[in-house]
Amino acid sequence: MDVLGRTLFGVDVTENPVISEASDAILARFDTSRFWSFLPDRLPTPTNRRYRQKLGELQTFVDDLSEQRREERPENRGDDLLSILVNFVETSDLTQEEFRDNMVTFLFAGHETSALGLTYTLLCLAQHPEEQAKLQAEIDAVCEGVVTAENLPELERMEHVIDEALRLYPPVYTFFREATQDVELQGFDIPEGTTLVLPQWAVHRDPRWWDDPKTFRPERFASDTDWPEYAYFPFGGGPRHCIGMRFARMEIKTVLATILSNYTFELASNPNPDLIASTNLKPGEPIRIKLYKHDDFEGMAR
Ligand code: HEM
Repeated sequence: MDVLGRTLFGVDVTENPVISEASDAILARFDTSRFWSFLPDRLPTPTNRRYRQKLGELQTFVDDLSEQRREERPENRGDDLLSILVNFVETSDLTQEEFRDNMVTFLFAGHETSALGLTYTLLCLAQHPEEQAKLQAEIDAVCEGVVTAENLPELERMEHVIDEALRLYPPVYTFFREATQDVELQGFDIPEGTTLVLPQWAVHRDPRWWDDPKTFRPERFASDTDWPEYAYFPFGGGPRHCIGMRFARMEIKTVLATILSNYTFELASNPNPDLIASTNLKPGEPIRIKLYKHDDFEGMAR
């Protein structure tokens, strides 16, 4: 949330609870593991009321903030998304409403997904200390004491670890498409208007495409990847492919590389946490890790 507060809005979320409160209210409203998320918006349930109130506050906040930025000279505006869109609105026919809705979408789509991606990567690594050691060796070889944006593309093994964690635990575990015309797919007749379910969770664990699918094996992404294109789609596909994918990967890599260059960790919670099919794939209980600072850890090992 801190990262999104700064990069989307150019603000410190600890000083602006409106952003995190709205994000929580939006996620609760669309929590598909709860029956009330299927009730119509117009019913005054506590979740609907909170959603409307917090969404309204966020919209006012975005409007006020964009007004403030407009009053600043363009060269004094930041490089957060809001400032970039303010510049764009001035030279395009994007309406204030579209602008504001885009900001809300980015917040909704970008926060929990990335946090979950990072959490599941930490879970997998906590269960595989040997993999932590390999990543630490890679970080030592690539980064000179400090992780920078320039180093990130060179952390290839880490890339495969993240790929594999997102295969086993895709934060977006399913999504939907509607047929806009009658179509035949693999011998199945699909009439116009049919809703199709595209379940990453099931496809990513299908033994037709993956050897030993339940095992965490990052090197499968290092060797020739000859599976069909949509055997792996944690970020969706086609024209609505996740626009934040590179950002999310960069964010996860930065946090992971920073943790691993200072700490080794082990799991301090249930190794097989229940998972909940909510809006995103969420652990049903907190995933905890215990960190050992490298110096202490080496001391202990000696
Ligand atoms: C690990 C992290 C992430 C995962 C797994 C993920 C996954 C996805 C998926 C599967 C879709 C396609 C949904 C569909 O087609 O129905 C999507 C769309 C989208 N994502 Fe992400 N996402 C992540 C991070 C982010 C971040 C960090 C942002 C922005 C800051 C973001 C912004 C968006 C937006 C705006 C869309 C809608 C794109 C459109 O409809 O054109 N995502 N994401």
